Amino acid sequence: MLVSAAEMMQKARDGHYAVGQFNINNLEWTRAVLETAQECNSPVILGVSGGAGKYMGGFKVVSAMVKAMIETLGITVPVALHLDHGTYDQCYQCVQAGFSSIMFDGSHYPIEENLAKTTELVHVAHQLGLSIEAEVGSIGGEEDGVVGLGECADPAECKQIADLGVDILAAGIGNIHGKYPENWPGLRFDVLEQIKNAVGDMPLVLHGGTGIPEEQVKKAIDLGVCKVNVNTECQLAFAAATRAYVEAGKDLEGKGFDPRKLLADGTKAIKATVKEKMELFGSVNKA
Ligand code: 13P
Repeated sequence: MLVSAAEMMQKARDGHYAVGQFNINNLEWTRAVLETAQECNSPVILGVSGGAGKYMGGFKVVSAMVKAMIETLGITVPVALHLDHGTYDQCYQCVQAGFSSIMFDGSHYPIEENLAKTTELVHVAHQLGLSIEAEVGSIGGEEDGVVGLGECADPAECKQIADLGVDILAAGIGNIHGKYPENWPGLRFDVLEQIKNAVGDMPLVLHGGTGIPEEQVKKAIDLGVCKVNVNTECQLAFAAATRAYVEAGKDLEGKGFDPRKLLADGTKAIKATVKEKMELFGSVNKA
């Protein structure tokens, strides 16, 4: 059964660990993340971006697949199905599709508009028992080949959004999506502390979990991060293992071209990455 992310966030905050959000891209990804969560006895959040939802045939397809897999694989750990960086329209689509959690990313709107839209969506989500994440201070990444160094959110704006009653707050602290550039100066713990002081008990999210040095991830969790988002790292692990399989010529041996064989090593690599992250985040045995 899917659950909202609210309770898992509160438990993570009180227990000083973080729950991983692992973005899913297809059936193999979904199965790998769910099985690893079960094996690690860890709560988990499945992240679905608008692009990934479209790729899989729409949010309804994703929701049906995840719910059926939880049932047929016998998954008993808490699982939230969460829209990642949703637009206003996508939030409504995911509510209708049966997601248990949404993220409204209004960070590119002027703060007044972000506040108005977030207020409305908090109301809708909570009426229906869903959790909702909001974002302040855009968490960028590679755009047109240029990788930004990561913006920082304004703590006062964070408090304004937190006060709307969101369940989880994403705030830029110098983090970015995708691989970090060589000259990335690291997370801004001074900003994280200011945000934490401004928002109090509000569980915070660290986006762009790929490639942040382990010590920095741990420190961020100590300072109030309850959710860490990982996407690119699973993609890199999947691609490297699949490349190794093909380069070793295994797809040319016997029925090695069968997708069930061709994608098996990549799927195992996703599982290994997810397990490593769950151990780092401290969510193992916290189901
Ligand atoms: P990465 O792709 O850098 O791991 O970031 C994932 C993320 O933050 C999704 O919202």
